[in-house]
Amino acid sequence: MSTPLYSHAGRGDFREVYEPAEDSFLLIDALEKDADRLQRMSPCVCLEVGSGSGVVSAFLASVVGPSALYICTDVNPAAAQCTAETASCNRVSLQPVITDLVGSTGIEAAWAGGERGREVTDRFLPAVVQLLSDKGLFYLITIAENDPEEIIHLLSQSGLKGESCLSTRARNERLSVLRFHRNQQT
Ligand SMILES: C[S@@+](CC[C@H](N)C(=O)[O-])C[C@H]1O[C@@H](n2cnc3c(N)ncnc32)[C@H](O)[C@@H]1O
Repeated sequence: MSTPLYSHAGRGDFREVYEPAEDSFLLIDALEKDADRLQRMSPCVCLEVGSGSGVVSAFLASVVGPSALYICTDVNPAAAQCTAETASCNRVSLQPVITDLVGSTGIEAAWAGGERGREVTDRFLPAVVQLLSDKGLFYLITIAENDPEEIIHLLSQSGLKGESCLSTRARNERLSVLRFHRNQQT
């Protein structure tokens, strides 16, 4: 499986859109590692919150296939447009939605800001508990400052079991992909 095309991200009309970086590629690597599991699960809906260029969802769509609906939210309208462009370049179908987190209806995430860089993540976690299906998986990118162990502990109190499934060091930061599922899942 190859990395989706994304050369339009971070330039021209999409200059304000997050250009895929180490965190994006680590998440892609984690999804690739889980490819068999994801294909067996055959999810109906895949949600990426903060899709930026859309490269992660484009990759996921190439792994899982066209039977799923791929919803990609971002607060940045240019990111939504960029996600649509990435979908078209890579011949996959993604549904960009411009909204805060998951909007009023209220899965991958990477943000900074607030205490320990967790402002957005902490707002999002209650929605994860509500939205994750019984067999679903939730992937979250963290840096050490986010205190991933505490996030795992917090979500365990809501019945989600989590672990770090992939880590790397990039620009002096420890990046980890956390993966969660409901406790009763085998
Ligand atoms: C670090 S980028 C990651 C982009 C993409 N997931 C990737 O891995 O390449 C974080 C993205 O989250 C978006 N974002 C930040 N706060 C958000 C919020 N409250 N709701 C939705 N998207 C948000 C930003 O606009 C940005 O595109």
